[in-house]
Amino acid sequence: MFNVWRSCRHLDHPSVVFILACRIACVSAPSVYQKLKQLASQKENCSSAVLFEFDRRFSAYGDEFVFYDYSNPLCLPEEVLPQSFDIVIADPPYLSEECLSKVALTLKYLTKSKILLCTGAIMEELAGKLMGLKMCTYLPKHTHNLANEFRCYVNYESRLFS
Ligand SMILES: C[S@@+](CC[C@H](N)C(=O)[O-])C[C@H]1O[C@@H](n2cnc3c(N)ncnc32)[C@H](O)[C@@H]1O
Repeated sequence: MFNVWRSCRHLDHPSVVFILACRIACVSAPSVYQKLKQLASQKENCSSAVLFEFDRRFSAYGDEFVFYDYSNPLCLPEEVLPQSFDIVIADPPYLSEECLSKVALTLKYLTKSKILLCTGAIMEELAGKLMGLKMCTYLPKHTHNLANEFRCYVNYESRLFS
């Protein structure tokens, strides 16, 4: 399971992890969930996080894991109430209009308002159209060199712009 995280993008900017005392949905973003749990255990953060993820190996997280397939964007357990998270952080699996359009439905269902998305630079226009997201100046890091340029996008005032 941990190889999955090592091979993924890491959102390590302080603004990404410095999210205190709120309810966070990590959508297809297991490494972000892991980081938040780590900070909570170090008492640097008292937020609660839920991981919405396709890879069932993460069901090891028990009640904090929700199986999620972007193809069925609103097929969620009934206890997952609409607008029940202060912020959603997502890293969709594919750079396609079909994928981002479906993920957008999930994010808008889950969040009270804030969305932080990590995806390719080529998705900028669509991310703006679907969710009103703006590209940040902060560059997400990756453990491997990727052919595609990745970016963070948000719909709120953030230090990711500075
Ligand atoms: C590009 S990776 C992003 C990983 C992320 N940076 C992290 O926090 O580790 C995309 C994620 O989408 C998940 N995924 C794959 N197929 C999916 C599907 N059909 N629906 C939702 N998520 C999926 C993968 O398991 C993976 O965790």
